[in-house]
Amino acid sequence: MNRRLGVLISGRGSNLQALIDATRDGRLDASIAVVISNRADAVGLERARRAGIEALCIDHRASPSRDEHDRAVARELGARGVGLVCLAGYMRLIGAPLLDAFPNAILNIHPSLLPAFPGVDAQRQALEHGVKVTGVTVHLVTSELDNGPIVIQRTVEVMDDDTPDILGARILVEEHRAYPEAVRTMLDGGWRVEGRRFVRSVNAASA
Ligand code: GRF
Repeated sequence: MNRRLGVLISGRGSNLQALIDATRDGRLDASIAVVISNRADAVGLERARRAGIEALCIDHRASPSRDEHDRAVARELGARGVGLVCLAGYMRLIGAPLLDAFPNAILNIHPSLLPAFPGVDAQRQALEHGVKVTGVTVHLVTSELDNGPIVIQRTVEVMDDDTPDILGARILVEEHRAYPEAVRTMLDGGWRVEGRRFVRSVNAASA
């Protein structure tokens, strides 16, 4: 697989930072070709620029429709030869123009063990439900929110005195480990999608 990444963000960009760090310290053999935010004030844009990575804002409000916005994003990613797209706190549903341009090549990270607690505030949802274990999911993106074949999951224990912020911070530590690992799994190949399942061949899984 082409090892040029495009990262889409909407905010803080700590997962973007984890990917930048992993490409720089040798954990991830890939380069980030471009970072795109739908919001001009995303702190992650600054992180990208500081790292010498091209950073663009494509404001969704400037496009007449969701499809138009997705087409604009797909165009910029394509122009830079991106092979794998990583959503990192990108607060937009992905539509057909972007999905069709990158089949089975868009990843998302979510702070729960999907299919539990999709959508916003996953950490609060987990606490309110009273689960004892939650975690992180990195999955392939489909047209449905927080759905799609699961590439990697990591668990995080829930403590009795957790608040959403405290739990979220512990989950974030695992997110920052899991995302580079999932990207490496994708780039190393030896996997296929069977229905809902992301399956690695025996050799790839033991590598
Ligand atoms: C993370 O918790 C991620 O799992 C979710 O949005 C948050 C983004 O955080 N999709 P950051 O912008 O990467 O710091």
